[in-house]
Amino acid sequence: MRTKTLATTLGVLAAILTLAAAAACSQPAVSTPAPTKPAEASKTAAPADKAASAAQPQPAGNKITMRYTHGAAPAADDPHHWFSLKFKELVEKYSNGQVEVQIFPAGQLGSEQRAVQDVQAGVIEIASLAVNNATVFIPSVGLYDLPYMFKSRQEAYKVFDGLSDDLNQKMIDQGGLRSIAWFEQGFRVLTNSKREVKTLNDLQGLKIRVPANPLQIGAFKSWGVDPVPIAWDETFNALQQKVVDGQENPHVTNASSKFYEVQKYITEIHYKMWIGPLVVQEKWLQSQKPEIRDAIIKAGREAAIAEREFVQELETKAVKTLTDKGMINSGPPTDEDEWQKRAMSIWPDFYKDIGGTEMPEKAMKILGKELPKK
Ligand code: MLT
Repeated sequence: MRTKTLATTLGVLAAILTLAAAAACSQPAVSTPAPTKPAEASKTAAPADKAASAAQPQPAGNKITMRYTHGAAPAADDPHHWFSLKFKELVEKYSNGQVEVQIFPAGQLGSEQRAVQDVQAGVIEIASLAVNNATVFIPSVGLYDLPYMFKSRQEAYKVFDGLSDDLNQKMIDQGGLRSIAWFEQGFRVLTNSKREVKTLNDLQGLKIRVPANPLQIGAFKSWGVDPVPIAWDETFNALQQKVVDGQENPHVTNASSKFYEVQKYITEIHYKMWIGPLVVQEKWLQSQKPEIRDAIIKAGREAAIAEREFVQELETKAVKTLTDKGMINSGPPTDEDEWQKRAMSIWPDFYKDIGGTEMPEKAMKILGKELPKK
């Protein structure tokens, strides 16, 4: 198993050092009030970081400490961070204070891939991340990277909820992990600085940044362009310096990242959602008392449901912000069927990489659809 690799061992050692260093420097974990609704959130400053001795290895007294890492900014209206705060609030409530969650936002403890390895190795207890960063360790979750798997949020929620037991079994078998929640940040849309993209034809010749994710690269290739994989933290500069003309991310990300400063046009290609699991190590979870385990699972489920509502309200605000700031939203492409047909034609090329057809087949069955075949 990949957890046994030398890289992982080194990763674990590095993580321990990071935690120790964080403790030594009083690197703050975020200990914040309960999350607010979007209207309140926009008025709320980024949560005050309480310099707790958060990165200490384990809890005082009888408390169970869950060290929670994620890569999002600790801003009250960031849906990913909001979700982590909601989980913290609920698990502390449902465990009657027996569990304490210490949140380390903004990748303080390392990258999202590193977070998966650290939870696998028991260096930290819990992490949330973009699903594409978990696929390398747990191939079956790659089903959520398949373009046009979902046509609407309702379809996505149906699959998240209907497939979670089966997918968890795969996650446990492949990586020793369980996802106790699936949350989302909306469908990814295309933005660019050059021209309105209403058809596949308009897309040709544009240089588009994508994450280094084979399925996202494959989708753009199917549309006739050669996308440029660039790390997320270099994306704004790449757009500003015109290294690339465009990128694709959800509206909430485009607004919070101020892409309206460097991008002019939006096309609602909706080819893929930003989806994230909340992962714990199965062995650790099963070693907890039943009431603690139940509190963690219940808190995860409820935090995800609350986040779904929050992110939809936030998205409405984000679309308004983007257009108020001067961006032009062309809506979906007029030849959307062709975008979909071409992107879905690549699915069979990737079944092997995502643990076979079993999970995508089950997902499609939940949606009453056929699995694309060669
Ligand atoms: C990306 O495009 O790399 C991600 O969607 C950024 C993120 O994690 O929000």
